[in-house]
Amino acid sequence: MTTIFTDELTDRSGPIQVPIGVYPPQEDSALLIEALRASGLAAGNRAADLCSGSGVVALAAAEQGAASVAAFEMSSRAVACARRNAAAAGLGVKVHRGSWTRAVEFEPFDVVTCNPPYVPFDDGADDSPVSEEAGPATAWNAGRDGRRILDPLCERAPEMLADGGTIFIVHSEFSNVDRTVEGLEEAGLRARVVAEQWIPFGPVLTARAHWLERIGLLEVGRRQELLAVVRADRV
Ligand SMILES: C[S@@+](CC[C@H](N)C(=O)[O-])C[C@H]1O[C@@H](n2cnc3c(N)ncnc32)[C@H](O)[C@@H]1O
Repeated sequence: MTTIFTDELTDRSGPIQVPIGVYPPQEDSALLIEALRASGLAAGNRAADLCSGSGVVALAAAEQGAASVAAFEMSSRAVACARRNAAAAGLGVKVHRGSWTRAVEFEPFDVVTCNPPYVPFDDGADDSPVSEEAGPATAWNAGRDGRRILDPLCERAPEMLADGGTIFIVHSEFSNVDRTVEGLEEAGLRARVVAEQWIPFGPVLTARAHWLERIGLLEVGRRQELLAVVRADRV
């Protein structure tokens, strides 16, 4: 079990526990939390966090004053972890096990956050081994273009949003941020990038860098990536 002091990474106040096999909060989690905080949209509203992992973003929404928070996560290990973290923090986060698509079964949400798997991958990606402390491959692998979840999420986002509702999605340049903005606009939302951050490659991209260079997604020798948060409003 690793204790993550999320206040070093995010504006969350307390530490959370993350066992091996669960994605530990990283810069993408922190950028998403900061975008939510800067918007002021959690307070008093119904929030949902998709692909919730350790629950760090859902907990932040609760701490920012959300009236209710529902989290959706496929991995049972992560669900147990998020529930433990919510209970330890005394925060009322309801963690549902299953696909992010389950969110449409519940009431519409005023604010939705998602840090999905988004790293490009296919069978030709001859990675070097990644430390298991980086979390499970299911937390990041997302098909050759990295859009296995992003494309259907853009299409279905309006179904889970209340009138006037907002979704925040974080991902990296390697899974095509423009396509996310366009996909959300095509679905009828008003979308734009609200936060960006350059970060050094973590363990996954370090292991996959030569493949990304070979398929032309990465300039040879570059070892930094640009993260972006896309915000889309139902108007
Ligand atoms: C990049 S991690 C993000 C975790 C957390 N939200 C954070 O920011 O630290 C992605 C998470 O999505 C989960 N996941 C993958 N596919 C999913 C799906 N189809 N539905 C729900 N969760 C999924 C993974 O198990 C993993 O916990």
